[in-house]
Amino acid sequence: MKMITCIAPINMAVIKYWGKRDEELILPINDSISASLSTDVMCAKTTIVTSALLKENKFWLNGQEQSFDSPRLTNCLRAIKKRADEKLPHLHWNISICSENNFPTAAGLASSAAGYACLVYALAQLYNIEGEISNIARQGSGSACRSIYGGWVRWHKGNSPVGEDSLAKQIVPADHWPEMRLLVLVVNDTKKKYSSAKGMAITTLTSSLIKYRANEIVPRRIEAMEQAILNKNFQSFAELTMKDSNSMHACCLDSFPPIAYMNEVSHSIIQLVHLYNDYKKELTVAYTVDAGPNTCIYLLESEVEDFLSIVNFVFPNNVDDNEYYRGLKLPSIRPL
Ligand code: PMV
Repeated sequence: MKMITCIAPINMAVIKYWGKRDEELILPINDSISASLSTDVMCAKTTIVTSALLKENKFWLNGQEQSFDSPRLTNCLRAIKKRADEKLPHLHWNISICSENNFPTAAGLASSAAGYACLVYALAQLYNIEGEISNIARQGSGSACRSIYGGWVRWHKGNSPVGEDSLAKQIVPADHWPEMRLLVLVVNDTKKKYSSAKGMAITTLTSSLIKYRANEIVPRRIEAMEQAILNKNFQSFAELTMKDSNSMHACCLDSFPPIAYMNEVSHSIIQLVHLYNDYKKELTVAYTVDAGPNTCIYLLESEVEDFLSIVNFVFPNNVDDNEYYRGLKLPSIRPL
């Protein structure tokens, strides 16, 4: 018998991945950039057991058994096994996968990114695979490729029709910008109506704005964002982050039927951020929202206390039964 356990972080995009040019291989229409978070607060944990005695393959997610036949799981497993040494005896045994997230699943909090990064990394450990695996994690969930690395990470969309160059690369490690923090304002942790996969498919098919975003806006913005991170220029970073989040949600609304991931609370938080920045006379906090209403705030450590006191004042803690926000630190990211 062999057993391996791994943990992987979520990542929060500042230049969003939204739209695929190949649905099956999960090839994006634009590059994206994110930060991988510290694993001590929000992470996925996966244990894989393999044994000659296991009669069938099994997969549990958060304590519930899932089908083992999902195409994404099958693709990852096939891609990993292709890289393994055929002579490994346990390569041909059945496996049992047990995965759990310590935060809401499928609520727009990048649970699939952490989950698939963790799964692929654990499989690579199990079958002694070394080298590039982000393009395998990508086949589980696109954004998972970025969670393979710590710190600031860019997913290069690549040009190949089969996707071998569609992979993630670290821009800089987390300790490059040790003052950076992320607050996750949990507005709602119920499962969203449109998964990101469904939402992206509708947008790619029906929005005319998405083409302009992918071909004109993001190619320029991504270079500016990389420079902002390298130079630790928070003003530029904040402006690009907020504009890119707005652009992704504008494309969602431009879809037919329109897709609205944000709710009134998300919009109120966005307004609050703009008021707060106006009051401070510079950009000191930046919001970004994924495919759900939960609203994330990038800010520097020196700003956390002030901003949180305003958030607590404007939004009483019991808006929701759930914990309202969590403060996350970017430094101390551990490699998987
Ligand atoms: O990897 P997916 O299919 O869960 O898509 C993630 C898409 C966003 O989270 C909205 C943006 C991103 O770049 O992470």
